[in-house]
Formats: sequence, structure tokens, C-alpha cells
Amino acid sequence: MDKEKLITTAKTMMQSPKGILAMDESSPTIGKRLGSIGVDNNETNRVKYRELIVTTPKLSDYVSGAILFDETFHQKMSTGILFRDYLNSIGILPGIKVDKGAKDLSNHPSEKITEGLDGLRERLSEYADKGAKFCKWRAVITIGDSIPSTACIFGNTHALSRYASLCQEHSLVPIVEPEILINGNHSIQACYTVTKTVLDSLFEQLTIMDVFLEGTVLKPSMVISGTENKKRANYDDVAKTTIECLKLCLPNELAGVAFLSGGQTDEESTMHLNIMNKSNKSLPWRVTFSYARAIQQSALQSWLGKDDNIKKAQAVLADRAEKCSLASIGSL
Ligand code: G3H
Repeated sequence: MDKEKLITTAKTMMQSPKGILAMDESSPTIGKRLGSIGVDNNETNRVKYRELIVTTPKLSDYVSGAILFDETFHQKMSTGILFRDYLNSIGILPGIKVDKGAKDLSNHPSEKITEGLDGLRERLSEYADKGAKFCKWRAVITIGDSIPSTACIFGNTHALSRYASLCQEHSLVPIVEPEILINGNHSIQACYTVTKTVLDSLFEQLTIMDVFLEGTVLKPSMVISGTENKKRANYDDVAKTTIECLKLCLPNELAGVAFLSGGQTDEESTMHLNIMNKSNKSLPWRVTFSYARAIQQSALQSWLGKDDNIKKAQAVLADRAEKCSLASIGSL
């Protein structure tokens, strides 16, 4: 493990006023996104869409790194240049999603466990050789009747810490992502309790595995009411409760925090982040974004798979990225 390298990469990822662009949808997930605009999920269209994203003018003013899916990491753009090389050339660090997805957790109905540890060391070695600078692993926690179970929380936080340790062996910065799903009718208080339990468990596991926290980025969900809750908490409450929870659970030496958007609307995702940063000027870590849908969704709707719409879609994407960037410094 090269600690200096890990610190340098993590600082670059967390540089102000930027965040991290998540564009690492697996082939089935990108299929759903393309399907929503009537576009076939084939390699040509996946390249076209992702090329639209990375060639958006001024993207690197707002984004320090981009998380890629394995296919994109090894893929060439229409110009013949590899996506990862193009990103490097415009000053955006290429990262890679390395988990193998959330699968049903044995004997625990409605709960998931993220798989992908088998063979991970060898895959990381190849990604590092090919220029990846950081990785992502997403765990999924559902709030519902009597869940999440201890088994689900422990299984996922343990896997996250083993993944993080393996990444650092290859001097790759791990993004650890324990996502508490927004789906459901739970209250913000229920989300707070679950988030705190999960984050406490995660940092306990990371400490047990001797994970180097200065070279680790946390990608949490915000503490928020479920989408079906009748009395959803307002922007100020979400921002305040989220920061309260982070302050209680996160060690100061952590390299930074980059939120997922998790199905929030574009406006919610930027307002919450903006208030957090506006109201908290002296947090021990930078608090920024690592959004997929909250950056991409409106651009996808503008594109509709048509070449004539590419410029318009890129303007929409740049606007979303700029707003996220402003929110990451509380200046929206
Ligand atoms: O793993 C999840 C993605 O990296 C973030 O996606 O912002 O659409 O929740 P999202």
C-alpha cells in the first residue's frame, strides 16, 4: 500500500468545488435508463450515450473523477480513444465499480448482500495496471418491517471493509457505499436510526481491517424520509439530520464524503447538499456529490437517442453538474 499515493488520489477526488460523476450503471441498469427513452440497449448506443456524457463541455470544472462500469473502462469512444484515457486527458480521474451486484441474502427475505470478493485481488491488479485510480463497492440496505437485520448490516459492512483493504493493497482509493434505500414509507427518524447503526458498523469493520481512512471515501445516502411517507421531512431537516449523523459516526481522518442521489429529484439532491455546506463551514471532511441519476437523468430525457439533440443534452448535463458543484460549496 502506497499511503502517499492514496492520500494524493483522495485529495484530488475531493478537491473543491468538484464532485464525482457516477456513470457505472451495469448493462441491465443502463438498459432500463435507455429503455425509458425508447433506445435499444446495445453496445453502440451505450458508447454513444456515455460519449455524450464525457465530452460535455466544461465537465472537468465540476467533476474530479468518473466511476465507470467494466465495459466502459475497456471500451473505445468513436474517435478510437479509450474512455479511461480520454478522461485522464481532460483531468478527470477514471474509477471503476468492482462489486458484482447485490444478490438475495440467504435466509433473509427482502434483504441483499453484495457479492464480488472472489477473484477481486486479481481484478484490482489489472484495473490498477490499466490506470484506474479509485474503486466503488455498493451495499444495499432496505428499511422495512423488522429489517434491516443484523445479518444484513454485518455481512455488508464486513464485505465493504474487505473490499476496501484489497483496494488499498493496490493503492486504489476505495469508495465505500452503504446505500440505505429511499423506497418505503419510513420516517426520517427511522432512517436516522438505521443510518447510524450501519455507519457505526462500517467504521468498526474498517478499523478491524486496518483500512487507511485518509485514503478512503464514504459514499452514503442522506438521512431522509421514505418516498412513500405522507409527511416527508423538509430540506432543512434532511440537511441538519444528515450532518448530525455524520458528525457522530465518521472519524475526522476520513478523506471525504460524496453522497449518492438515490432517487431524489434533481432539486432535492442539490438543495440538501447546498444547505449542508452553507450551514456547516468547518466540517472535518469535505461533503460533496457522487450522483448518477441526479446528474444524468434530465440530459438523458433531452437526448432521446437523437444525434441532433446531443448539444442540447450536454448543455443540460453541464447545468446539472454546475449546480451540484455550487451546492458542494454551499453557493447555490
Ligand atoms: O451506486 C450508485 C450510484 O453510484 C449513484 O447513483 O446517484 O443514481 O443514486 P444515484
